[in-house]
Amino acid sequence: MARRSGAGASAAVALAVLAVAALRCAAELPLVEHPAKNDGSLSLLVIGDWGRKGTFNQSMVADQMGKVGEKLDIDFVVSTGDNFYEDGLTGVHDRQFEESFTSIYTAKSLQKPWYLVLGNHDYRGDALAQLDPVMRKLDERFVCMRSFVVNAEIVEFFFIDTTPFQLKYWTHPKDSHYDWRGVAPRKNYIANLLKDLDEAMKKSTAKWKIAVGHHTMRSVSDHGDTEELLQLLLPVLKVNGIDFYINGHDHCLEHISSRNSPIQYFTSGGGSKAWRGVYQPNDDKLQFFYDGQGFMSLQLNKDQADFIFYDVSGKVLYEWTSRKTNHFQPSIYVTAE
Ligand SMILES: *[C@@H]1O[C@H](CO)[C@@H](O)[C@H](O)[C@H]1NC(C)=O
Repeated sequence: MARRSGAGASAAVALAVLAVAALRCAAELPLVEHPAKNDGSLSLLVIGDWGRKGTFNQSMVADQMGKVGEKLDIDFVVSTGDNFYEDGLTGVHDRQFEESFTSIYTAKSLQKPWYLVLGNHDYRGDALAQLDPVMRKLDERFVCMRSFVVNAEIVEFFFIDTTPFQLKYWTHPKDSHYDWRGVAPRKNYIANLLKDLDEAMKKSTAKWKIAVGHHTMRSVSDHGDTEELLQLLLPVLKVNGIDFYINGHDHCLEHISSRNSPIQYFTSGGGSKAWRGVYQPNDDKLQFFYDGQGFMSLQLNKDQADFIFYDVSGKVLYEWTSRKTNHFQPSIYVTAE
């Protein structure tokens, strides 16, 4: 497959749009094909909880992402949601799109597709706006869908719309209005989504399988674990041999290992406002926790996955490597460092 870099963003997005159009009639999750590099490897950055018009160090994090993105020759960027604060976008013409996204992530290395999910704050505005393909006319990088699959050959990413899972947004919205157009009723939406995810995961032959959602599965910070996800989503990830679950929601950087499965949990939610000062241990094994701003990089090849967390000045805070020692038994892991 052709290598996609530099001017590859528009080609990849055009491909994405085609793939989505082709599959919309089938009852399947939208699929985006994003080929790996020629040598089969892939690198990307993960950022979450960011859109604040550059404030709360958003711009500093963006600058460092640009530098690291250049160094790692990234293929794309993943956003774990809460893309625009406080209440998502007001519509497709909201200037915040430009002020918090286009004019902030300006580095050359970041001119690649951005694959984004919605967070709970995005649901407090016009949730359909970010999902509207019209946004790609304003900035061709912006590929936001509710739940979808990105197939990058050695790895398949399952992007999951987690906001509808949290019961309290439905039953106790407080002063917030959640835009449930296209979602309600909750029960049907979740049942269909879990079925679609299970089917997509079962079909996947990729060496690595990664799930991405906004909400925490396991977290030691402010929001803690998300019970609804542990109950409803985690079993689907476990049964399908998902390697990693990557999320935002808590404004920090974390790595937690599960005690009863090979799944590793990564929080990258340090895109802007952070420093909540909350630490509440849970039952799983905490490997790393940083309560400030920053972001994560992920480099993959068929044998190895390297995770790195960076702070607001680009300093490496933590590195972790996962290796698949036997290609025919993907559930055997060796942890280095
Ligand atoms: C921005 O980053 C600096 C350096 O780490 C930190 O001291 C400061 O508190 C941060 N500002 C905010 C608003 O979080």
